[in-house]
This record gives sequence, C-alpha cells and structure tokens, in this order.
Amino acid sequence: MYVGVDYYPEHWPRERWETDARLMQEAGLNVVRLAEFAWVMMEPEEGRFTFDWLDDALAVLHARGVSAILCTPTAVMPAWCARKYPETLAMQTNGQRIVWGVRKNNCFTSGAYRLLSERITRAMAEHFQHAPNVIGWQTDNEFGHPVCYCDTCRAEFQDWLRARYGTLEELNRAWGLHFWGHYVGTWGEIPLPVANESANPSALLDWQRFYSWLNVRFQRDQVRILREYFPDTFITHNFMGFFSDLNYYDLAEDLDHVSWDNYPVWGAPRVMSDAAAMGDLMRGLKGKNYWIMEETAGPGGWGSFGRNPWPGEIRLVAYQQLAHGADGQIWFRWRTCTAGREQYWHGLLGHDGKPLRRYQEAARTAGEYHALAPHLEGTTVRAEVAFIYDYESIWALRFQPGFAENNYHAALQRYYDAFFRAGINVDFVPPTADFSTYKAIIAPDLHILPDALAERLRAYVEHGGVLLTDCRTGVKDETNLCHARTLPGLLAEVLGIAIEEYESIAGDVGFTLHGRAPLAGQFTAVHYADWITPRGAETLAAFKEWHLPDAPAATRHHFGTGVGYYVGTVVKEPAFYDALIADLRITARVAPAEIALPDGVELSVRKGDGKEILFLLNHTQQEQTVSLPAGLTNLLTGQPANRSITLERFGVAVLRK
Ligand code: GAL
Ligand code: ZN
Repeated sequence: MYVGVDYYPEHWPRERWETDARLMQEAGLNVVRLAEFAWVMMEPEEGRFTFDWLDDALAVLHARGVSAILCTPTAVMPAWCARKYPETLAMQTNGQRIVWGVRKNNCFTSGAYRLLSERITRAMAEHFQHAPNVIGWQTDNEFGHPVCYCDTCRAEFQDWLRARYGTLEELNRAWGLHFWGHYVGTWGEIPLPVANESANPSALLDWQRFYSWLNVRFQRDQVRILREYFPDTFITHNFMGFFSDLNYYDLAEDLDHVSWDNYPVWGAPRVMSDAAAMGDLMRGLKGKNYWIMEETAGPGGWGSFGRNPWPGEIRLVAYQQLAHGADGQIWFRWRTCTAGREQYWHGLLGHDGKPLRRYQEAARTAGEYHALAPHLEGTTVRAEVAFIYDYESIWALRFQPGFAENNYHAALQRYYDAFFRAGINVDFVPPTADFSTYKAIIAPDLHILPDALAERLRAYVEHGGVLLTDCRTGVKDETNLCHARTLPGLLAEVLGIAIEEYESIAGDVGFTLHGRAPLAGQFTAVHYADWITPRGAETLAAFKEWHLPDAPAATRHHFGTGVGYYVGTVVKEPAFYDALIADLRITARVAPAEIALPDGVELSVRKGDGKEILFLLNHTQQEQTVSLPAGLTNLLTGQPANRSITLERFGVAVLRK
C-alpha cells in the first residue's frame, strides 16, 4: 500500500534531502509526488533539458525505499514560454491576456502550448523511463482553469459545433436562435458565450461541453506519450471532488485510476458527509478504487489560514477516504514552504522542518495502513443504491437555477446525508450507467433529461427498480431547451403525477407540510413548490394552510413491478429525508446497516475476496460507544472485538467480519 507526501525537493537545499527521505522512511511513508510545478527547472530555456537534480532527488528517495509519482509540469508555464509565445496565455472576457505569474494560465487550443506540453512530456518520459522508483504519473495539476476567450478558442469552438450539429439549420434549431432574432448565417458568426444573465443557455451548455473536451484532449495528448514509455505504469490526475467545470467522467476515461485532493478541515469540526460523498463520486468516475493525491496535513490558506486539524483529525480525514475506497494516500504537503503564495498552506512538517505532532499522527496512520493492507486487498465499497451524478444538469442549473436557492450539490446532499446517517453506502454513476445492477436509483435535480434517459428510467422502474427524483427534474432536453410537455414529462406515468404549475417561495418563507405514514410528522417546505396533481400516486406529505390545500408535496407510485418516489419541494428538516429514505430502503429491499449508529458516527463497509471490513468513524469530539454484532475482529488491535466498542474523539475502528 502506498502512503506518502507531496514533496518539493526543489524548494530545499540538497543537504536536507537525505534528512527528508530518512524521516519519511521512519514514518512509513513510501511514496512522494514530484515536479508538478517544476517545468522551468527541467527546461530552463526552450529545448534545453535539465533533469539531473530530479535524478538525484529520486536516487536519495530510492535509497530510503521511497517511490515516486512524476507529474507532467504543464500547470505552470515557464516565463520564457509567455515571453516567446504570448498567445499561450489565456485571454479573459475583457479581451486582455492573463498576466503571467500565477498558475493555470494557459490557453488549451494554443498550438504552441500544446506542442511545448508534448515536448516536455516526451522529454521527461524518455529520460525517466528506467528510473527504478517511478511507479506512476500524474497529468498536469487540477485541470479546470482557466477558460479562454481568444480567437483560436473561438475558431475551435465553431469547428466543434460544426462537427456536432452538421448544419447551421440544426444549430439554429438546437440553440433556439429564433429567440431575440439570433439566427446565425455562417459558422464564423458564432460568438463565444460569456456566462451572464443574458447569454443563451443552450450556447452556454455547449461552451461548457467544449471547454471540458479541450481539457480532456490536452490530457489525452500527454497520456498517449507517457504510455509509449511507461506501458505498465499507472497514469492518474488529481481531481477536485465536487468541482464541476469539467465532465470528470470524460477526464477519467484515459486514466488508470482517479485521484483527488481532499481538504475538508475548515471551520469548526463537523460531520464530513460531503467529503464522504466526494469520495464516492471519485470512486464512481471509473467504478473503481481511487487515490488521495493531496490530503489535509495542517492548516490551509493562501492569505489567512484556517483551523489546525486537532489531534486525531488528520487520521480521521484519511481513514474516511480509506473507508470509501482510497487505496493510496498522499498528504499535502511534506514541509511547509517558506516562500511564495502557499507559505501558510501547512504540511506535516512546519517551516522549521521538525517531525512534530502532525508528522507523528501521519506516521501512526501510515503504520496502521500497512498493517491493514492485506485485509483491504481486493475490497471496495459495494452499494445497492446509486445516485445519478450528471454534469450537464449541474451546468444547466448553474446558468438558470430556476429557483434562486436551487443548487445541485445541496439537493444531492439532502438525500445523501440520509443514507449516510443510516449507515448505508451508495455509489455515484453517470446517466449512461446500467441501472439494473442497483436496487434503487436516486436522481436529485436531474434537470437535463433527454428522452432516451427518461425511457431507460421508465424501463428500470417497470422491471422492478425503485426511483427517487425531485423538483426541477426533466425540465430540459439535451440542448438545454425546455421540453414542450407537462412536467414531469416522460416520467409522468412512472411517478403517477402531473405538474401543471410550480412556484418559487421567496426568502425565508416556509409552508407547513403534513406527512402521513411513513412520513408522519410536520415539516417545513421552503424555496420551491411543484403544484402536483396525483394521477395514481399516493401522497406521502401534503401542504396545509396553503393556497392549494392538501396539495401533495411528496408522492409514491407503483409502476410495473417497481416504485417511483417524487419530492416536489425542498424540506428544511433532515428528519423528513431520514423517514423517506427509510421507507425507500424497505420498498427496494436494500439491506440495512449492520450496526446502529450514534449521531456523528459514520459506518462504511468494504467488501471483496470473501472479506468484509467495517469502518467506524467518530466525527464528534465526544467519546462514542457503539454496539457491535458478534464475531468481529478489531484489526487495529488484532484482538476479537467485544460486543461494544468505545471510540475516542475523532476515533476510528476497523473491524473484520
Ligand atoms: C491544491 C493544489 C496544490 C496546492 C493546494 C493548496 O488545489 O493542487 O498545488 O495549491 O491546493 O493550496
Ligand atoms: Zn484560447
């Protein structure tokens, strides 16, 4: 198992390298990520390569049993590149190029930048192909920035549209350019849409798709070269969880596995259900285990810094990801830098380079990971429930949320958290996934609903699947035009409802909802309400004292041999979602958690190879006692577990069935 740190030997005198490598070895750290910002150190002037320093650093690390992941260094262009090829700098919406001196500032269609990127990638791959301790590659760093509005990007966008739509008639139709008299008569007339209140939403959606594709293409050019020299070495990239400017399914396609950067420690300690969800998404991008390429190691910040992870928290943050499928973990960063913008983004070591508390905690965690490795081999999270996670809906909602508070991730998290509290693992899947392998599909805010997807969801329920979806689902087609149908469109029969009207609820106004069994109780509807007419569905919760008395707000409907649930509003109380998910779980025959969980304690289970490993994670600052079934082994003590276990604050237990 690989556990390590992001390391920048180029920031420190050579005399220090040996100390660093020794301290890593003593802590059980056996891998580093190197060189993602070191282009100019490897190519100080165009075409002249200087890899000797990195050879030496690799050798020092190798002698201490530390392996390396090398990066293509294209996230920061050398100053000479900007000077010689000014067109490589991205153009902003005001028509000015970004001033060189930050990072992620290149245009992705610039021929010069693409060639220079391919050249340094090939030079590195060729040079390091026989280095004994290179075990993997990372492409670039955190793809997603910047968007460029230069003429080359505009021409490429027009070409991309021509390939997608074929004719101008089709483009004019797909974008609805009859509106405001926006018909275009030549491809050259198509502008680059700038995201603002008056831009055409269909043009914006294609622009986002195009921008995503540009990044994927840029990465693919590098991957192709790396594979020539490193056919058996993994290639990954550091994704950013719920960052959603790119279609991450596409970006993941050319990689061996996904990695991501996890920084959940900010304000007061809290239950990190969002980090759990992001881990699940990262696993879902390729349907396999992933790595953490940057894991919280200390207080972070570029100007002012946030909270220091409290004792136990560095370990808890790491274990949570292990529990969700992270098979390799790397802390960002090894030693806190004394120079530049990230002087306050703290690593395991402080500025002083001494192996203190944070280092000790990482060392303890690494030691435990190595002992756990044989038990985890061949295991992953195997869920019976999947969330559809759809980038196109996220984008469309970003341009037009419909109701002001509509936020895709907030919607998703309302349902996710109910599963999380119930101790039930879930997967994330793209809209193209095979739904039939899941007992239930949760599709919050599935705003863009192409007919083919609606048909597949319908067939899924008809043949016994359980579908839950909610407000603003199915409003748009794949080109971001509103469907000319009564909502919920092609899902009307599945859900047994008609939504002829709807409204947004302003500000902090709330309306009372009365739930009936299984949702018995009183709740508060906020932000938005569908005006639902049941067409066969049963009402689980209804509005009271409202302009439409007894109008349904949540429904359940048997269709074929399956069931469709619908929630037509946003409910303030988490208890509503807990009750709804509890009912859905029974309907879908999803297995309940094997352990009853106190508030703030998370359960995640990895299975495979005949093994079952249960992780208990205490996100609270109090001790928590949890009752356990018989027959478990506590893998951290090596002893049979008792029928109850007490977790210290931020404590963790790993139990084998
Ligand atoms: C990440 C990035 C790192 C470092 C870190 C802390 O997003 O990949 O290079 O900048 O944030 O700011
Ligand atoms: Zn450009």
